Amino acid sequence: MIKTVATTPYDDQKPGTSGLRKKVPHFQRPNYVENFVQSIFDSLEGFEGKTLVIGGDGRYFNREVIQIALKMAAAAGFGKAMVGQGGILSTPAASNVIRKYGAFGGIILSASHNPGGPTEDFGIKYNTGNGGPAPEKITDAIYARTRTITEYRVLDAPDLDLDAISTLALGSMRVEVIDPVADYAELMESLFDFPALKAMFAGGFRMAFDAMSAVTGPYATEILENRLGAARGTVRNGTPLPDFGGHHPDPNLVHARELHDVMMEENAPDFGAASDGDGDRNLIIGRGIFVTPSDSLALLAANAHMAPGYAAGLAGIARSMPTSGAADRVAEKLGINLYETPTGWKFFGNLLDAGLATICGEESAGTGSNHVREKDGLWAVLLWLNILAVRKQSVRAIAKEHWETYGRNYYARHDYEGIDSAAANGLVDALRARLATLPGTTLSGLVVAAADDFAYHDPVDGSTSANQGIRVLFEGGSRVVFRLSGTGTSGATLRVYIERYEADPAKLAQATEVALADLISAAETLAEISSRTGRTAPDVIT
Ligand code: G1P
Ligand code: ZN
Repeated sequence: MIKTVATTPYDDQKPGTSGLRKKVPHFQRPNYVENFVQSIFDSLEGFEGKTLVIGGDGRYFNREVIQIALKMAAAAGFGKAMVGQGGILSTPAASNVIRKYGAFGGIILSASHNPGGPTEDFGIKYNTGNGGPAPEKITDAIYARTRTITEYRVLDAPDLDLDAISTLALGSMRVEVIDPVADYAELMESLFDFPALKAMFAGGFRMAFDAMSAVTGPYATEILENRLGAARGTVRNGTPLPDFGGHHPDPNLVHARELHDVMMEENAPDFGAASDGDGDRNLIIGRGIFVTPSDSLALLAANAHMAPGYAAGLAGIARSMPTSGAADRVAEKLGINLYETPTGWKFFGNLLDAGLATICGEESAGTGSNHVREKDGLWAVLLWLNILAVRKQSVRAIAKEHWETYGRNYYARHDYEGIDSAAANGLVDALRARLATLPGTTLSGLVVAAADDFAYHDPVDGSTSANQGIRVLFEGGSRVVFRLSGTGTSGATLRVYIERYEADPAKLAQATEVALADLISAAETLAEISSRTGRTAPDVIT
């Protein structure tokens, strides 16, 4: 029986950079989940009888929300739901399932790299039939609906058992509980030279993969250990836990410190990698060398043709604006287009769908390709492995050669977390007001060449997204970028992105903080960070 339940709108259900994210207790308010899910359905058309994919990263509250979403999907008239066993689907795996089975769309439950647990973060995001995050047109419609919603519909039925692979019924909707790993592993096998990777591991290649007690554990164990023959124990923290073992499942040098330290030891494995809460981010560390995500994107693009799935070459490369310009130089050399988009994976979807770009990446440890419509942590790891298997060189040697060929983009991101929202907005407003006066002025010895508030004009659908980050470009190819995070759940997070381009062969091996010192102080002076936020140092440097 379908129940119609009266409800009242919440005023804070605006999806951010990647869906709606709030603390779990916030999501547990009466009808909070139901209002948002109904608003998603109310913003879509033509899904009657079609398939909806549902899965999440296994964090606290995942199971409860899946049951609600299933009963509401049945009431809304979907014909079939595909759910990962135990409610698990990594974000890239969900994207793949949507595409492979021609689903109408999918609901992904995740707060990505944010911590999980009864008082930590949760998130809900809608992906469209191309497998990618809903574009702003849809997220705006969902938000508008959340402001006016008066009722939701739900099937009155007991919870389903999602722990066994099976086909179940929920009213007239069929529910298929699927193996969350199988389709994804098959896709990876179609893109990469698994026999060559197997031979590399058989030859003694050693790797450490930190799944951070998050969703990639089962995927990495199946692919790296079971299919490719990496030694047992290669995958660390491989069991997904609802609270990620109390850690932030964020694969950066702060939260994946243990892996970093292992990789800096003298007898370190050949290759180290990690992924985040929902499996779409990656961290790459060679023996004794951390590869910045921006450099990783450039390196992957330059060498992708070595993997069977990309043997035909790349159509183009896309990167988010704050990501370093390292990939631009690769695109130039390959004679292909480089697209600069706002932060957030949703902006890559049109470029991938239109066949304009093959590989995309963000400085925030996200890389991916046209194989799905999300960034993909394990994909990046496997492409790296494929390149290592072909080139038979160390990560360090490959990075060094790359910098000698293209120059090096020294890069860091400084995050000031949980700052007062008014102070953060004031800082950005003040910068914006000064943009026109900056060109030609000198800051910490650097001359400003141009300054703007980044706006993106989508070449495929013609839409414009304004106010996507303040850019201050200096003569010589260095720059600082300021923007406020769109994924945080408490206060505001100021992100300062700092980049210096260096082509002098004698200066390619500097410590990043030394290479960036003058730019860091220019950023502080320009944005008045300490006086406006009360902070004298960033909380996280990546
Ligand atoms: C952050 C990252 C961005 C990424 C997003 C979702 O968004 O900066 O690159 O796409 O998470 O993983 P932000 O908090 O900066 O808005
Ligand atoms: Zn993520």
